Amino acid sequence: MSGRIPREFIDELLVRVDIVDLIDSHVPLKKTGANFVARCPFHTEKTPSFSVNRKKQFFHCFGCGASGNAISFLMNFSHLDFVEAVEDLAGFAGIAVPRESIEHQPRQQKEDLISLYALMEQVAAFYTEQLRTGNEGKKAAKYLKNRGVSGDCASDFMLGYAPDEWKALATRFDQKLLLEAGLLVSKENGQPYDRFRGRIMFPIRDKRARIIGFGGRVLDNSLPKYLNSPETPLFHKGKEVYGLHELLQKNAKPQRILIVEGYMDVITLAQFGIHYAVAALGTAASQTHLDLLFRFSSELVFCFDGDKAGREAAWRAMEPAFSSLKDGRQIRIMLLPQNHDPDSLVREEGVDGFIGRVQTAETLSEYFFGHFSKELNLSEMEGRAQLVTKAKPYLDKLPESIFKEMMFARLKELSGWANLDVLESTATLVSKQDPKRYRNTARNRPQDSGRLSSARAAIALLVQNPRLAELIEQREIDWNGLDFSGAALFKNILQVIADKNPSNTAVLMECYRDTAEEKFIKALALLDVQVSDDQIETVFCDSLDRLLTQARETVLTRLLNKGKTEGLDAQEKELLRKMLTAQNFGAK
Ligand code: UTP
Ligand code: MN
Repeated sequence: MSGRIPREFIDELLVRVDIVDLIDSHVPLKKTGANFVARCPFHTEKTPSFSVNRKKQFFHCFGCGASGNAISFLMNFSHLDFVEAVEDLAGFAGIAVPRESIEHQPRQQKEDLISLYALMEQVAAFYTEQLRTGNEGKKAAKYLKNRGVSGDCASDFMLGYAPDEWKALATRFDQKLLLEAGLLVSKENGQPYDRFRGRIMFPIRDKRARIIGFGGRVLDNSLPKYLNSPETPLFHKGKEVYGLHELLQKNAKPQRILIVEGYMDVITLAQFGIHYAVAALGTAASQTHLDLLFRFSSELVFCFDGDKAGREAAWRAMEPAFSSLKDGRQIRIMLLPQNHDPDSLVREEGVDGFIGRVQTAETLSEYFFGHFSKELNLSEMEGRAQLVTKAKPYLDKLPESIFKEMMFARLKELSGWANLDVLESTATLVSKQDPKRYRNTARNRPQDSGRLSSARAAIALLVQNPRLAELIEQREIDWNGLDFSGAALFKNILQVIADKNPSNTAVLMECYRDTAEEKFIKALALLDVQVSDDQIETVFCDSLDRLLTQARETVLTRLLNKGKTEGLDAQEKELLRKMLTAQNFGAK
């Protein structure tokens, strides 16, 4: 399906669907007080800490920290991407998803795709048949046996054999479709011929089990060793990984996923009971790959050969890795001994040895800083300066997170340079001001929210009740010159509410999906403000008053001090005059 889904539709959908009904249809909920609870579907637990709040249209697990609106629930629960989740939710509400684009996918094109998938299925069946019963297939079966691939494993991965003929497929299936599927190679002046000949065939399936492409390996030392399907309407190398479907068959929520280099690595590991490996298809793992895999597990382990090429590939993986590392996600790097790949290593060391290596694989931070400590001389100032120049661009790629702050802290420590301008703006509100409190609210039961600062209380109430923005509008507050922790975020939220007019927290959250502010807004949405419904407006106005008074006092004190020491410029004098007048008249 092409065409953008209109924003308004998504907002409306979030209002129309009740998250309690939605989640209840997947995970039966029990009502307790204002909330609905269940055992969390995102981690294993004995007592329920997963709770759904009807007013906020939001779910939250106190145990594992998972939280979000109806769309986020479907993305996580059913492993869908954003668009798929919106489509699913619309299905639940019984309405069709409109598309903005004028070029709706023509029916013809959709039917073509269906025929292509069907063709791939038939071709894969033909290849497996050839492996099992074909004359030449015996050679291939023997090759696999020599490499130690069991019959069960071959059938789990639907391995097959493409006979060494120019027209094995061309004479059996529709040629136009075969060409479109990348299974024939067209010749300028001659008949098209089979792309894969005399090769062991590895069907590549997407997460929905559809065959989208093939890899094929020769049986001897001839070149190229592997051939892969070209890009086709079904197959996009940069987006798919080998082995994902087979992995999900065994475990839909693995503790970790290994990213290895080859088809045979995935298959051999699976045969040894390590069913959680996938391979990027002859390319380096991209951020798209990582984001795809992070939907199924919160820990990825990159596995590289120990030779020079492998070490270089490991370093090249840092860029996509840094960009995809939100809080709660983890990446480890595992460099294998020289002249080994996972296939050979697990056979030599056995499965326990291999798993031991996985468990002790270096964390991304160890690997990252270790790399520089090897490359640069950090006992010299020059080396430490280079460390900053080289490392900072990577750290800047990290999404705003506690991990990012810790990585910067480590860089400061290693370089001895205290002056890195790190997280400004939004991060100050929730983390710098009171990091312990922030972590508490993100991880534990937020009972202890106790006395919140006025700013936090006001902003949290606003996020949880977007309609409160009206009260602010009525007051015509001059935000210029007001200085308080979180001011930027507060203004940002007011702007979004003014622009989008979200009717509840879930819709507001949706405006922040995948932005730097997302996680702060989420933390605020989850903050237990302990205010009863009929008190919300009063408490909000009180916190706002206190906040404004404090903010004014901060600025006033600063101006007065500066006036005494350095003197004020014209602008500052004007501001001071205004503030003093306002105070004298007791205005808010
Ligand atoms: P390797 O050369 O490391 O092969 O390529 P391998 O996986 O160990 O294969 P075996 O054990 O010799 O059978 C790693 C991956 O790189 C891609 C394939 O995806 C392969 O699995 N590759 C390799 C190609 O696409 N084409 C090639 O010619 C070689
Ligand atoms: Mn190999």
